Amino acid sequence: MRLETDRLIIREYAPSDAADVHQYASNAEVAAYMIWGPNTEEETAAFIDRTIEMQRQQPRVDYELAVVLKASHQLIGGCGIHISEPGQGEIGYCFHPLYWRQGYASESARALLRLGFQELGLHRIYATCRPDNRGSAKVMESIGMRYEGHLREHMRHKGKWHDSFQYSILEHEFKGDQS
Ligand SMILES: CC(C)(COP(=O)(O)OP(=O)(O)OC[C@H]1O[C@@H](n2cnc3c(N)ncnc32)[C@H](O)[C@@H]1OP(=O)(O)O)[C@@H](O)C(=O)NCCC(=O)NCCS
Repeated sequence: MRLETDRLIIREYAPSDAADVHQYASNAEVAAYMIWGPNTEEETAAFIDRTIEMQRQQPRVDYELAVVLKASHQLIGGCGIHISEPGQGEIGYCFHPLYWRQGYASESARALLRLGFQELGLHRIYATCRPDNRGSAKVMESIGMRYEGHLREHMRHKGKWHDSFQYSILEHEFKGDQS
């Protein structure tokens, strides 16, 4: 799988990506709202292994992809779409702090919507974030997702129960020409 946007190449991971991924996956600020991390080197290596396993799924239901700047080929983050049940997918994204607030998460997430609706034939795509992860909520809003609700203590990780905001977009709401 390979997606292209104005500024980005979104492509499969390779074993040689481990060091670049570890740069941000080991960062406590990046992992603050995630169910994983901050990663040890072993955990990042295991993540890369899992993404490479996904490339062999038949039929494929998990796409975990590296986000690379077109101009420099620098790996700046990752994003993914997971087909959770027939016709429905969940998206997610995570970037190195050096590249925050430059529109890269929104650009990647729009590419995932195009993949989900136009190539994978999905009907509904959803995403969740922790309620105080304002940046992630704004990404979902900026790509045309609508707020669906507040899930209360539905998920346990890092020794605590966590709430989520859930957003979604339906196939007929999606405008494929969004840049
Ligand atoms: C959340 C995250 C993905 C946002 O990535 P990003 O590339 O900075 O997002 P964008 O530049 O596309 O910004 C989209 C919008 O959110 C706003 N935004 C981004 N970070 C923000 C923050 N921390 N606080 C408030 N607004 C923020 C941007 O200003 C932009 O607003 P606009 O649409 O009005 O212009 C990034 O901060 C990150 O990787 N965080 C760690 C991992 C994570 O939390 N992932 C999401 C898990 S649910």
